[in-house]
This record gives sequence, structure tokens and C-alpha cells, in this order.
Amino acid sequence: MKLIIINGPNLNLLGKREPTVYGTTTFEDYFKQLKEDFSEVTLEYYQSNIEGKLIDKIHEVGFSYDGIILNAAAYTHTSIAIADAIKAIETPVVEVHISNVHSREKFRHLSYIAPNVKGIISGFGLKSYNLAIESFVN
Ligand code: DQA
Repeated sequence: MKLIIINGPNLNLLGKREPTVYGTTTFEDYFKQLKEDFSEVTLEYYQSNIEGKLIDKIHEVGFSYDGIILNAAAYTHTSIAIADAIKAIETPVVEVHISNVHSREKFRHLSYIAPNVKGIISGFGLKSYNLAIESFVN
């Protein structure tokens, strides 16, 4: 089973960024733990702040990997291009958010990508990523 976590803009600052919303753990530290927790899975990680690079990565993995766990961050609420990229590929995508986007500002309630994904996990902190991986493994 080959899965990739793709994180969008500002998620490189996890651990430092708005810790009351996103916690104090860096994604690199969390990712090490994830790899240990799911040692049976080939798990990769990619992050970019640039919309086109996220789309390039979705295209690159989208016909050969078993799953994509995508936190498109703010692009979730703005990007028709990422929504189209998800529609264009064969690999199933699970949309993930660390925070519960529906308990936050109204502009976070709209997800352009939601209609094209397999499912959505939002609001469980970094554990949202564990749950997304489990959805592919089990
Ligand atoms: C986020 C929620 C988005 O609204 C926000 O723009 C992010 C992170 C989350 O993981 O909770 O950058 O996707």
C-alpha cells in the first residue's frame, strides 16, 4: 500500500503557526511517528505553498499510488484548479483538516475539493491524518 500525504500552504509552519488552533508539534516530528504507527504502509510526505506545485504532485502520483491524503489548507476554499486535478486522476483522495473548519469562519465552510474526494476528516488535530490513513488501510 503506497500512500502520500500532501500538505498545502502554511502547513510547513506547523508547531509554530497559531498553536491554539494547530498545536505545537511540527509535521516532521509527527510524520516520524506516523511512519512507525503504519510501518506496513509505504508513506510519503510532500508540502508546498504553491498551488501549481501541489497540482504537479497530484498528477505525478495520481495514477500509481493507492491513496492521497490531502490537506490543501486555504486552497481548499479557493482552488477550482486543485478540484479539477483531483477529478482528473485515478487515485482516491481523502480531504483532511486539522481544525474543524465548520466551527470556524464562514469562508472555511466551503470546500471546492469536497465533491471530488472519497471522504473528509476534519477537526481531530493531527490525528486527522491517522484517521485518513486508517480509512485506506482498513
Ligand atoms: C486547515 C484549515 C484551513 O481553513 C486553513 O486555511 C489551513 C489549515 C486545517 O488543517 O485545519 O491552512 O486546512
